[in-house]
Order: sequence, then C-alpha cells, then structure tokens
Amino acid sequence: MLGLSRNFLVLSSATILFLFLLISLTPITSPLPPYTGDYEVGILDLETAVERRTIHAATIKETGAKAFELETLAVTLYYPSSLPPLPSQPWARPWLPQPVSLIGTGYARLIGIHWPPLQSLATFFLWAFGSGSVIPGVVDAPVLSSAFPDVDGSGNVLTKLRKSGKPKHSEHVEEVLELRDVKVGKGPKLGKKMEKLPLVVFTHGMAGMSQSYSHYLGSIASHGYVVAAVEHRDGSGPGSIVHDPDAKESFVWHLSLEDLTSDPPMTTEDLKTAQLNFREAEIQETIRLFDRLNQGSEKTINLKPASPESALPGFKDRLNMSAVTVAGHSYGATGALQALKNAPNTKMPINGAMMLDPGKGSGPLNDKIELPTLVMQSGEWTEKQVEFYGQGKHFEVVRKLVENTGMGWFMTLKGSAHPSCTDAPLIVPWIMKLATKTTLDGRVALREYIDTSVNFLGYLNNGEKKGMLSKEVSSAAGPIGDSEKRVRVQGGFGAEWEVHVVPK
Ligand SMILES: *[C@@H]1O[C@H](CO)[C@@H](O)[C@H](O)[C@H]1NC(C)=O
Repeated sequence: MLGLSRNFLVLSSATILFLFLLISLTPITSPLPPYTGDYEVGILDLETAVERRTIHAATIKETGAKAFELETLAVTLYYPSSLPPLPSQPWARPWLPQPVSLIGTGYARLIGIHWPPLQSLATFFLWAFGSGSVIPGVVDAPVLSSAFPDVDGSGNVLTKLRKSGKPKHSEHVEEVLELRDVKVGKGPKLGKKMEKLPLVVFTHGMAGMSQSYSHYLGSIASHGYVVAAVEHRDGSGPGSIVHDPDAKESFVWHLSLEDLTSDPPMTTEDLKTAQLNFREAEIQETIRLFDRLNQGSEKTINLKPASPESALPGFKDRLNMSAVTVAGHSYGATGALQALKNAPNTKMPINGAMMLDPGKGSGPLNDKIELPTLVMQSGEWTEKQVEFYGQGKHFEVVRKLVENTGMGWFMTLKGSAHPSCTDAPLIVPWIMKLATKTTLDGRVALREYIDTSVNFLGYLNNGEKKGMLSKEVSSAAGPIGDSEKRVRVQGGFGAEWEVHVVPK
C-alpha cells in the first residue's frame, strides 16, 4: 500500500515535470501579433475610487460581506500614444494579471475546485501557458498629443521635431524609434473632426477578464480610439482584488447562487439582473472617469498597486465626450445593450454600441434602443440555435431587435467560434482549434472583427459606410431560413460573412 502511494507520488511528480518540460519546449503558445492600426499603443491598469453604493443587498455566505457593493472602478486603458516613451517604461505588460495565483485560484473555484493543492495546480497551468505572453504596448505611455497628427504623410516626426528646434529631444526620439523599430510618418491624419479622441467602453464576457481581449482592443486603440476595458466586480470574472482608498484589500471571487444569502432568496434571474445592474453602474463610472480625465481639474489617483499614473494628466482636453461607444462580448454584449436602455442621456452620453455574440443565457436582451448598433456573431453562435426566454429563437430575437432600430447592422463571421474575438486563438492556437473546431484562421477572424469594428466607430464619427458596412443583406433569415437563401459575402481579409440586417 505504502509502495503504491509512493509510486503514485513519484509518477505524478514525474508527470508534472514532464508536462513542464513539454510546455517549455514546444511552441504551444504564440506571441501576440502587432496591432493593426498605425498608432503606437499605450496601456495602463487603472483603479479609482467611486461614490460607494450597494447595487443589491445580498451578502456572501463565506465572509458576510456585501456581494454587490461598488467601491472602486478597475479598467485597463488602451490608447493611441505619442512618441517617445521614456526609456525606463516597460514596452509591454504581462498578459496574465498579477498575482497569477488570484486568477488560477479564481478559475479553479469557478469550476468547483476548493481544495488548495488543486488550486495551485490550476495556477501552475495558467502560469505555464500564460506567463510567456505579453500585451504589446508601452505601459503608461503619453497619450497621443494633438500635435502629433501634424505628420502629414510625407513629412516625418523627426524632421518636424528637428525643425522645431528641440535637438536633444529628437535625438532621444530617434534612439527610441530605432530601438523599437518604429515606422515614422505613418500616423493616419486626424481630420478636424477628430481633434479629440473618441472613446470606447468594453465589457467582458462570463468568466472573462479585462485583458482577455488585448489584441482586439489594442488594435482599436491603434486606430485612434481610447478604449477602457472594465474589470467587472460583479462576480462574473474568475477573481479580482478591490483596493479601496484606505489601502484595504478585498477579494471578489466568481459568484453563483449558492454563494449568496439574501432575503427573499435570489433566483438565477435575480442574480443576472443584479450583475447586469452592477455592470451598468461600472459602465457609467467609466464614462465619468473619462470625463474627469478630460476635465483634468482634480488629480486621478491610481489605487492599483505598482501601476503608474504619469500619463493621466495628458488626457486633459484630449477626449471627445460626445463620442462614447459601448461594446461587449457575450454577457458583456448583454450588458452593453442594457446600457442603451435609457441612452443617450446625461449619465450615459453614448453614441452607439457594438455587440459580439450577445448572451444566450445572460437574461433577456434590452430592445429599447434608439442608437446605431453593430451586432457581430461568430459562426458557432449563429449556427447553434436555442429558444430564448420564450421569445423565439435567439437569432430571431437579435435580428428583430436590430431591425426595429432601423439603424443597425447584424452579421455573422463564418467559420469562427465564440472565443474568436479573445486572445485565446492567438496565444494557444492549437488548443483553440481542437476545442472549438473553427475553420477560419484565428488571425484572419480577429482582423475581420477589428476592421468591421473600426469601420463602425468611424461611421459613428463621420457617417461613412466602409467595408462590411457597405454591403447589402445577403442572408436575412440566417440559420432559421432556407439554406439556399444563405448567401456569403467576402470580407476585407479573405473571410466570409453573412449579412442579416443593415440600416433602413
Ligand atoms: C466629437 O465627436 C463628435 C461625434 O462623433 C463629432 O461630431 C465632433 O466633431 C468631435 N469633436 C472633436 C473636437 O473631435
């Protein structure tokens, strides 16, 4: 018996060592590719104090703490940046949020593992797969200055800087550019209309994190948008730490019904409503944060430990508060739709919304919409149809919702899967392919999503319909109609789409 368990021990530690060797030797993970736009990208994790409020009175059984108390707002900012960053600034940040054990334990808890050794094993795997990845982008880089777009296509940054009589500075720029192999003079011209930077608030899916979409969001930023990806503390993510202004830390783990005490007891629907209301409040706080940064009258203090804040004063007068778009994936898309309920109004000065795979089980979708919308679904999401809260098939509900606004698009990217807009297909392409059976290359799928998103954001600012937005309806009924009526349309990067709804 003793021999057996010893054998088992030896065997399992050997297995772990072997796995470790395998992971470190095989190129099972890939680095994230450069962003698709012309601007350099700055990146910053930011946590700020908000007006404290309780969204729902339920408490957590384990700790007795309030489950839906909004204390601080945490976001990851992706933004277009001016050159040059200081040599001391890191050029990338780790893809895995720190501490890794928080996320490892969080995911373990999420799948019902409460035994610490197994939680450590989850952390180990996360570390093995994720620790090699970094999010490209300069941490705390200065935000794109209004002078930078002075680059006129022919001119380049260096000559301009030399002419302006700042030799020291330009030498430094040159050095940094050389080191970083940056193409100069390629920044897109910001016309008069874009003197100030337009804004995007992004909300992640169930079990997602604010950094799970870094390529998609960083790319949008590289086209000239300031993107804030919310790290939701509504109990939908794997785990997050709230750092309040008194330097007190509290953990937010993934929440399910059994974790909560409430009088009367909560139902599944109550939990979703509470979480969506929590998300709506966080979206509202993000817009408020943009406004505060733009006004620049009070110093914004970054409560996130070890995260800098020197770029923040640079946002003063740089943000276009009339150009705020909300976007989200899955549960987050349901949240983005919810944010449109009474928008636009003074608390939610939103100009439109982008939804990727709106949730199938995250509660009914808000259909009170008076703003332009873009709904993009993965092939997988469109093909697998479910009855949706007694309102018909999910596809039909989404189609009606967009159609009724008269000013939205609804389309499907063929051959893609639910996680195709996340970083997963870039970091672990083989695992993604095996797990989701996508037929479309992961990079192409992301390229198509990014291109169409940037075109939609451009449309909100200048009314131009480019790329997929210029196409006509090719497949009105999608998976619920006749298959011969499902015509495919070629996207800009070789993928195929089905267009279900376009504006009237
Ligand atoms: C701000 O955005 C609005 C709406 O897109 C646009 O009409 C306006 O020109 C922008 N303003 C600046 C200063 O960029």
